[in-house]
Amino acid sequence: MKKSSMITLALLAMFSVAAVGCSDSSKDAPASQPAVQPEAQPAAAPTPPVDLPEGMGVLPSDVPVPADNPQTDEKVELGKKLYFEPALSKSGIFSCNSCHNLGTGGVDNEQFSIGHKWQRGGRNAPTVLNAAFWSAQFWDGRAPQLEDQAKGPPLNPIEMASIGEAEVVARLSEAGYGPLFDKVFGANALSFDNMAKAIAAFERTLITPDAPFDLYAQGKGEISESAKRGMQKVAEVGCTSCHSGALFTNNSFQKFAYGTDEGVKSVSGKGEDDHLFRVQSWRNVALTAPYFHDGSVKTLDEAVRVMAKVQLDTELSDEDTADIVEFLKTLTGKQPQVTYPVLPRPEGHALSWSD
Ligand code: HEC
Ligand code: HEC
Repeated sequence: MKKSSMITLALLAMFSVAAVGCSDSSKDAPASQPAVQPEAQPAAAPTPPVDLPEGMGVLPSDVPVPADNPQTDEKVELGKKLYFEPALSKSGIFSCNSCHNLGTGGVDNEQFSIGHKWQRGGRNAPTVLNAAFWSAQFWDGRAPQLEDQAKGPPLNPIEMASIGEAEVVARLSEAGYGPLFDKVFGANALSFDNMAKAIAAFERTLITPDAPFDLYAQGKGEISESAKRGMQKVAEVGCTSCHSGALFTNNSFQKFAYGTDEGVKSVSGKGEDDHLFRVQSWRNVALTAPYFHDGSVKTLDEAVRVMAKVQLDTELSDEDTADIVEFLKTLTGKQPQVTYPVLPRPEGHALSWSD
């Protein structure tokens, strides 16, 4: 992946050098000598729009990768199996994909997800799409990175409810994962930690480039007039003090005086952390209703109004709200195309489930 993006860069660099060379030589050519190689004329380079508010930009294609968990194709493939693996749950029913459905924007569109024995938790499931870019995982940031996060759900009693790491490892071993882990990590590699590493590596491929906004920002596509007004409006009213940059989040934790969930305080116990939540990215937000950490708001329109009121003490007009929603819709990127994996299973008998 790194290699291919480097090749792309090299090609781009070659193309732009060639393009500059061509246009220079045609400019330098005396008017009396018309250029006779029409096929050598490069297509006009796309012109990026001049009206992008400060900081807004194209989604980066390179995600941060921790030094102790380099990306490899085999690891990503193993991580994909584990992501879709119901054997991680005690009931044999729930996989990561149950709550973070890659067919529906990496979420389940439920206020609170359904987990083990039909239980529901108290927080809305955020999307896994682009999660590799977040400063920390969970609404309250309690997991520093994807590797730490992936160890949570299998053991969480209301999510996948496996009793312990050993039980998860035993289940994976019974299913036949041993050789797959060894191929990726070396001998005797089937472990809870390596499971989390592989899942994290797969999640780092779940990036959504080429949203209409990204194409527009590069001069390669258009967005509607309403979306353009919305783009200016979010900068004008101050949304972009938090939802800034190419990710449309500054990745910080900010006060959101809404609801009863204490956010970061529920982890740190510190008063100053009360109601702090990670600024949610606007990338793919049109796909991830219902909104907020408690999933209490059903529509994007209402979420925009609530944000304006609570964060900026601003009442937005109907027209401004509609424009902002149109702009947010331009941030839905190309969804990852994932081929459903074949999972290892013992031959001739079922896995031994407990409920
Ligand atoms: C039963 C539903 C459920 C299952 C199963 C589940 N998750 Fe989640 N996931 C959630 C909820 C709810 C949250 C938010 C919890 C919080 O912030 O306290 C979450 C948060 C996350 C986040 C953080 C995203 C962010 O923006 O901070 C990631 C990444 C994630 N889950 C990946 C996974 C992976 C990988 C698996 C499988 C190993 C998994 N989840 C299984 C419900 C689920
Ligand atoms: C002071 C920082 C700040 C400002 C200013 C701000 N937001 Fe937010 N925004 C947040 C935080 C923090 C969250 C996560 C809230 C939560 O826990 O539910 C969020 C969440 C959202 C969500 C819901 C995302 C989701 O997945 O549930 C939307 C939509 C949103 N903001 C839009 C806006 C708009 C539009 C504006 C301007 C009118 C704005 N925000 C201004 C900090 C801010």
